Amino acid sequence: MRCRHLSLTNFRTYGRLELDLPPGVSVLCGNNAQGKSNLLEALYMLATIKSFRTTSERELVSWHAGADERFARVSAEIERQASTSRLDIILVEPASGNAANAAAGARTRAIQKRIRLNQQPRRSLDALGQLNCVLFTPADVELITGSPAQRRRYLDIMLCQVDPHYVRVLSRYQRVLTQRNALLRQLRDRRLPPDQLGYWTEQVVALGSELIVGRGQAVTTLNSSLAAIHPRLVDDRPSLGIVYRSSVTDLPSTLAEEAGAVARTDDVRSAVAAQFAAQLDAQQERERRQGMTVVGPHRDDLAFTVDGMDLNRFGSRGQQRTAALAVKLAEAAVMEQRTGERPVLLLDDVLSELDPQRRLLLQEILAGDGLPAASAPSDGRDSGADRGGQVLLTTTELRPFTPAFLAAATVFQIANGALRPAATT
Ligand SMILES: Nc1ncnc2c1ncn2[C@@H]1O[C@H](COP(=O)(O)OP(=O)(O)OP(=O)(O)O)[C@@H](O)[C@H]1O
Ligand SMILES: [Mg+2]
Repeated sequence: MRCRHLSLTNFRTYGRLELDLPPGVSVLCGNNAQGKSNLLEALYMLATIKSFRTTSERELVSWHAGADERFARVSAEIERQASTSRLDIILVEPASGNAANAAAGARTRAIQKRIRLNQQPRRSLDALGQLNCVLFTPADVELITGSPAQRRRYLDIMLCQVDPHYVRVLSRYQRVLTQRNALLRQLRDRRLPPDQLGYWTEQVVALGSELIVGRGQAVTTLNSSLAAIHPRLVDDRPSLGIVYRSSVTDLPSTLAEEAGAVARTDDVRSAVAAQFAAQLDAQQERERRQGMTVVGPHRDDLAFTVDGMDLNRFGSRGQQRTAALAVKLAEAAVMEQRTGERPVLLLDDVLSELDPQRRLLLQEILAGDGLPAASAPSDGRDSGADRGGQVLLTTTELRPFTPAFLAAATVFQIANGALRPAATT
């Protein structure tokens, strides 16, 4: 799939932008603070319906927007193999009423987010996955070195883009978990008889085991795609592996036996549910003491290993960065396998992270025959020119790129939130 056209109004540095985006690789080149990352942020927002940089959507509305146009709009024409769609996200600051304290009042009121798909209003949950993007930024080394919550979030974002069922299960799990935790707190404070808990425990187990199995299966496919991609990025050094560490079950061994056996997913889910229920049973005392659900997918983690070595603890910084990049490239292959469409790759400042040899290898991967698929070759719907899919990458200079890579790419110069095609020689 690709974003054919991007329109921005009052989005961060962009007062107004109308940009046709070609298939293949686009290089966005510009000095610091010119709006390169802002543009990737806008595209990624269309995929996930949230900003990856801020939870305060008010920050996205341009500071330069006049008092009568306190809104931001991000719109795209999205081309898939069989259809084209238009997605709009509009952020509106509520009207500030009468003059007195207007500015202060407007600052405290929540911003409204309106989403339209082909001009029809949609809820956030229903707009996810219209555009599929994989984003890599320098901060993504935290996938390896950051908190378990960041790693869980990573898997959840990937799955939410490609699996509408997962989105709903995740959202219900979060609600049910909040309810169960509230009850556990009341039990701790002896404000409730214990028999109230059973229903919520059942719900947490049913929904939670779906999440665990969904994530475990995603990790299995990520691994098979990593086996193809990581050696190409590190010149055939030992391969990177990911293990899903569940707090309720030894999932890798269960899933290894079931890998690819879709018909038996239900069996795996029942097995995981049984172990989850048994764990909750065993942890009753601890839960009542702490007033919260102490095991479940909200406590799970991922481990990254190279040749059996834990990358988080022992990896060099460069190894960790390359691993995070490899995981993102593998993610693109997984998403393609799930949807039949290659996602748009957004690579922010990616070369600055890599040594010269890895820079070359990455350019070969991006420009050459594209990313290896996580599964058997696709059914031939791929058109030759588009095999690598759409890639947008940002850089402050063109020097690190090979002439061949630049010759095959479209290069945009970006300054003060305006883009123009650039000469590459
Ligand atoms: N709501 C906003 N309105 C106007 N300008 C904004 C807004 N939010 C951020 N900016 C400006 O956007 C600029 C940063 O843009 P961006 O992060 O896209 O830069 P960049 O080109 O990626 O730079 P770098 O090479 O340093 O990564 C900052 O100068 C900041 O002041
Ligand atoms: Mg930037």
